[in-house]
Amino acid sequence: MIRTLYFRLVITFIGIVLISLIISLFINTLLYREEVETQIQQALIQQGKEIITLYQQNPSTNMDSYLKSISRLNYNFWLFTEKGKEKFFGSKSKVDKPFTKNTINHVIKGGTHLEKNKVRSSQMVGLPFQINGQHYALFLTFRGAPFLEKLDEIINTVLTMSFIIGSILILIASRYLVRPLQVMTSATKKLSQGNFDIHLNVKRKDELGILADSFNLMAKELSELEQMRKDFVSNVSHEIQSPLTSIRGYSEMLKDKAISSEERNTFLDIIQQETERLSRLSENLLKLASLESNHHPFHPESYRLDEQIRKLVAFLEPQWSKKRLKMNVRLEKINIVADQDQLNQVWLNLLSNSIKFTPEEGSIQVKLTEQDQKVIVDITDTGIGISKEAQQHIFDRFYTGDPARNRIKSGNGLGLSIAKKIVELHDGQIRVASEVEKTTTFTVAIPKK
Ligand SMILES: Nc1ncnc2c1ncn2[C@@H]1O[C@H](COP(=O)(O)OP(=O)(O)O)[C@@H](O)[C@H]1O
Ligand SMILES: [Mg+2]
Repeated sequence: MIRTLYFRLVITFIGIVLISLIISLFINTLLYREEVETQIQQALIQQGKEIITLYQQNPSTNMDSYLKSISRLNYNFWLFTEKGKEKFFGSKSKVDKPFTKNTINHVIKGGTHLEKNKVRSSQMVGLPFQINGQHYALFLTFRGAPFLEKLDEIINTVLTMSFIIGSILILIASRYLVRPLQVMTSATKKLSQGNFDIHLNVKRKDELGILADSFNLMAKELSELEQMRKDFVSNVSHEIQSPLTSIRGYSEMLKDKAISSEERNTFLDIIQQETERLSRLSENLLKLASLESNHHPFHPESYRLDEQIRKLVAFLEPQWSKKRLKMNVRLEKINIVADQDQLNQVWLNLLSNSIKFTPEEGSIQVKLTEQDQKVIVDITDTGIGISKEAQQHIFDRFYTGDPARNRIKSGNGLGLSIAKKIVELHDGQIRVASEVEKTTTFTVAIPKK
């Protein structure tokens, strides 16, 4: 509890309010108390003198009844004679002020006494006067100037009330502040347990709202990532499982002594093909993982791009001439700074695809040009084409086309993902344009340096 943010917020706020109250009280006292006290004292002295003067002008009046009637105007009087006799006029509801002998003597001898008291309204002054040669000391104080007396009380009540109400409001407000954090904490826990279907409903525009939005985005991306991971595992397992199944099947059949040597050779060929497929798969997977890890070795060097492509076309000759494809190659002499091995893989994947997906007697055109410090490679074939819908996916891992259309199932759908990754590592772009059953063009643009 003590360590919670809620508790700390509340304590901090209350502390701040308390300190501000104390400081403002202090400042208030400094600014006004002194002034008010002096004013009251001045007024008392002035009025005391008036009262005395009034009496001195009519000395025939009885002093006792005079003071008594004036005391009704909210004064308390203490009258002392030279002999130390004391008389009181007024209301005794207030606690009497003790007069020391010294004070009384001091005033009788003609001094003025000022007494400062903690309680504002109980200022007291002592004034000397003479009548018929007799010396007197008159002490007077305001009795119950109700407003003044209440003033301190009012101020204290107001401050206490604002402190209490403030604290209650802070208790509520802090809960409102801390609540989204609690929601997020519990969501994070769910997330760490693998539950990615989380959406925080924090409708605020402040920092907490932004945090909640980012959290939602993170949860969504994590869930997509998790889905990708699951798909990946299931794709890989499937890609491994199907060649293994056929290898197992054919090797089982090979055990049969009755099969002809022709059949035997066919089975062995199939087993060999499937093994190669498996080995290609693991090679491609490793390559992709390495390319995506961002630690893939990258060795740019300057070389003739046209020569690289020409060599590859020649290398693939057995495959395209077997299908009697017309190979049309137009390459400008261009130097490039790039990773030769990696780009080799790109051209090889694109050319193999074109050969694979183009029916016999078709044609393939390979063009290399230069534009704005970029090399442009176009590989166009007259093959089966790619539908608009499939074009969205051909660069995804394991995508091998619309199953209804694509009967040529020899690859594992990693070729274009790898090609794209490599082109992007070279700051280039790869695009596709196609017309179903007619033509497909892959265009790669890479900066020369
Ligand atoms: N030149 C092309 N003509 C028609 N379809 C193509 C062409 N190149 C790629 N594709 C489609 O894109 C898919 C993905 O290609 P790729 O990643 O190289 O995988 P793979 O060659 O192993 O099938 C192919 O399965 C195919 O459906
Ligand atoms: Mg391919």
